[in-house]
Amino acid sequence: KKTVKDIDVAGKKVLLRCDFNVPMAKDGSGVITDDKRIRAALPTIQYLLDQNAAVIACSHMGKPKGEVVPSLSLKPVAARLSELLGKDVIMAEDVVGPDAQAKAAALKPGQIMLLENTRFEKGETKNDPELARAMASMAEVYVSDAFGAVHRAHASTAGVADYLPAVSGFLIQKELEIIGGALANPKRPLVAILGGSKVSSKIGVINNLLEIADTIIIGGGMTYTFLKAQGGSIGKSLLEEDWLDYCNDMMKKAQEKGVKLLLPEDTVCAKEFSADAEPMTVDSMHIPDDCLGMDIGPKAIASYSEAVKDAGTVIWNGPMGVFEFPAFAAGTKAVAEALSKSSAITIIGGGDSAAAVQQLGYADRMTHISTGGGASLEFMEGKELPGVACLLDA
Ligand code: 3PG
Repeated sequence: KKTVKDIDVAGKKVLLRCDFNVPMAKDGSGVITDDKRIRAALPTIQYLLDQNAAVIACSHMGKPKGEVVPSLSLKPVAARLSELLGKDVIMAEDVVGPDAQAKAAALKPGQIMLLENTRFEKGETKNDPELARAMASMAEVYVSDAFGAVHRAHASTAGVADYLPAVSGFLIQKELEIIGGALANPKRPLVAILGGSKVSSKIGVINNLLEIADTIIIGGGMTYTFLKAQGGSIGKSLLEEDWLDYCNDMMKKAQEKGVKLLLPEDTVCAKEFSADAEPMTVDSMHIPDDCLGMDIGPKAIASYSEAVKDAGTVIWNGPMGVFEFPAFAAGTKAVAEALSKSSAITIIGGGDSAAAVQQLGYADRMTHISTGGGASLEFMEGKELPGVACLLDA
């Protein structure tokens, strides 16, 4: 795909789609609790400003349904962005209304403004061409750097590309290069570590990775559906009944393809789902009737760490256990540690696994932590991403 370097942006008005959907404090104070996504957009913003472009930035935040929700205003993002850039960020009161139009028209080269939450407009999630056209009419070039939102075919992530020359920023370029490279042409062996609570949300990824990976490691809540499918007793553990057959098919398919599919030999379980529940290590196939699985056990930690040690590439998506509770964080922590020591290219899918790596203090030691949650998942499923497909081919 063409990037911002393949097009002339000097002195031009540029509509820049970012993913500024950042976590905010729950008390409504407008405090941003993690500004990683804002920082991740800085290289492209700085480049555009250095080129003397007039930057009209935009993003969604949360899920307002086409109406103004004051607690989902992007004003706190403008303030944080302004601090990070050391520069005024002009905040528009609307998306394509009179205030945005006037401020965009008056915007000078080297200045930056931010439109209000694109989802305050009904047309955004419907990819309404009228909204896309109105957004595009404020600018001469469209740059998308919103990797976290490229799986959405919305007016600001895809529709605008019908009306403006559209290229990617440096963040999307980096995400596509690193994740795309690992999927298309991995340094082998390629080890995929898949966790998280549900088999159903990881099916597409497992299916796609069965075609590509050398080893697939399973952890987290979805383990128990696999164990049950294999004839294990899983007590009160999370179970997706409807996916039992699927799990068996996956195990068979892995065998046919020569892909190693690893399940945890042992499990740390507890009598209740709570932070101060008593942890107990048991054989994974024999979880007591009154217990539920909460984490992978020490034997699983040893074999998973071993599998990672000589990997060429490791892709990790989803925690190994309930890492929010310290007594059940050992599995997730050990995997993070193993990755940090491995010489492999280490790629962390966004969402929970990114949060775990950050929370446990291993973020600096990974090759790449994706800024996309759903987007990185769909990318790993091998799906076409509308926010990438709409960009000009290189
Ligand atoms: C994300 O946080 O994954 C992206 O910003 C997309 O948000 P959405 O799921 O509300 O479209």
